[in-house]
Amino acid sequence: MGYADPTSSRDLLGSRTLFFIFICAFALVTLLQQILYGRNYIKRGLQFSWQTGEELGNWTGIFNFTDDGAVKTGSHAGGRYFEFYEGPLDFNSTKCLELRQDIMDVKVLSMVKESELFERWKSLQICKWQLNTTEANSFKSALSRCCNAPTFLVTTQKNTPLGTKLRYEVDTSGIFQINSEIFKIFPKEMPYYRSQFKKCAVIGNGGILKNSRCGKEIDNADFVFRCNLPPISEKYIDDVGKKTDVVTINPSIITDRFNKLEKWRRPFFEVLQEYENASLLLPAFYNTRNTDVSIRVKYVLDDFESQQAVYYFHPLYLINVSRFWLTQGVRAKRVSSGLILVTAALELCEEVHLYGFWGFPMNPSGIFITHHYYDNVKPRPGFHAMPSEIFNFIHMHSKGILRVHTGSCS
Ligand SMILES: *[C@@H]1O[C@H](CO)[C@@H](O)[C@H](O)[C@H]1NC(C)=O
Ligand SMILES: *[C@@H]1O[C@H](CO)[C@@H](O)[C@H](O)[C@H]1NC(C)=O
Ligand SMILES: *[C@@H]1O[C@H](CO)[C@@H](O)[C@H](O)[C@H]1NC(C)=O
Ligand SMILES: *[C@@H]1O[C@H](CO)[C@@H](O)[C@H](O)[C@H]1NC(C)=O
Ligand SMILES: *[C@@H]1O[C@H](CO)[C@@H](O)[C@H](O)[C@H]1NC(C)=O
Ligand SMILES: *[C@@H]1O[C@H](CO)[C@@H](O)[C@H](O)[C@H]1NC(C)=O
Repeated sequence: MGYADPTSSRDLLGSRTLFFIFICAFALVTLLQQILYGRNYIKRGLQFSWQTGEELGNWTGIFNFTDDGAVKTGSHAGGRYFEFYEGPLDFNSTKCLELRQDIMDVKVLSMVKESELFERWKSLQICKWQLNTTEANSFKSALSRCCNAPTFLVTTQKNTPLGTKLRYEVDTSGIFQINSEIFKIFPKEMPYYRSQFKKCAVIGNGGILKNSRCGKEIDNADFVFRCNLPPISEKYIDDVGKKTDVVTINPSIITDRFNKLEKWRRPFFEVLQEYENASLLLPAFYNTRNTDVSIRVKYVLDDFESQQAVYYFHPLYLINVSRFWLTQGVRAKRVSSGLILVTAALELCEEVHLYGFWGFPMNPSGIFITHHYYDNVKPRPGFHAMPSEIFNFIHMHSKGILRVHTGSCS
């Protein structure tokens, strides 16, 4: 009988041994995981780990994120897994101090898995955010030392006198001498001053805004910043609102979508009509390619007798902001316009609220989101440092310097 074959028997024994070793190794790894992570799971009271796999795939449907970030358990949740979520806790309650510390303990992004950071962020949502004036003021005074938006945010006749030789932010060998024609289009003085606005909203264009229904809340802010001429048509208004006080325009949009304004200008003008009360903010002196097309924007508005203001970022402001964030660990070829606006808002506003800033492919519940709220076009890899920007914002939220909104409103 083939069964009696001694060699085959030895083989069988061999694979049995292998199998046994495999089982032992698996058990050991499982045990280690239990020891390393188990305590944390229990501490947080969020027991949807791999042991209760049935909850893993879908648990966003179970509860609602409300306006103040609290989480209500649905009737069918049974309170089994989420008894911990009982309502908005005080930001400086013992529990919330602990949860905030859990986030601040993550010193660098690579220290923990993304999912672990999501967990900690999600847990923090039971805490009612509160501005910490001490922390906010110390951050703001650091910004006023490095960057000083109320004096240098945009080029003015005061900070950029006639004849100034402006050095570009990127093409540092390039120099632009301010002639009288350009000088005339600068505002006399900075249009904004320190802590001018009480509550500001800075809108990133992240897919996290989709279905957020945050439009009303955003429109209720005293001052709203938006990036890169995002669509704010009827289709999106419920999620992103309409109010816009400052909108940045990346000159590459004008180059790609509007032929550098060398041909018909009306299509561009018509797009701007949607932002009727907004001032336009352009990086004209970022690199030499941007200058002509940025200045042409002003000519177009004048030709159409528009009342909209056009401002140009002061290149020194952009350089100093990049430097500042480099010391905070944000490494990118270029800081995003979102980060620049947040930085400016911190000096110009008492309270800064961020919407649509979430640089991860998933929302905090692990559901995949689109890249923008209006499309899914990915940026050039390595250009911005999104996760590290968001990571900083999450820290600042935990300290009470600004508030990051990632849930839905109402
Ligand atoms: C998650 O649950 C919600 C509500 O219970 C449901 O509408 C949705 O289809 C579920 N999603 C998945 C991926 O199962
Ligand atoms: C979530 O909120 C919506 C609208 O307020 C409500 O219809 C729904 O029942 C809520 N779901 C849970 C699970 O509480
Ligand atoms: C939290 O802050 C408020 C107001 O600053 C204060 O009245 C309260 O005692 C603080 N609570 C704790 C637990 O520190
Ligand atoms: C604000 O932050 C400071 C410094 O971290 C802390 O000592 C203080 O208790 C905080 N205040 C509130 C009201 O949380
Ligand atoms: C920006 O940095 C430069 C060089 O470090 C410095 O001379 C300048 O004063 C800074 N600008 C502001 C507004 O502080
Ligand atoms: C622009 O401002 C006017 C007057 O304050 C206001 O009535 C109008 O609704 C604003 N438009 C937009 C798009 O916010």
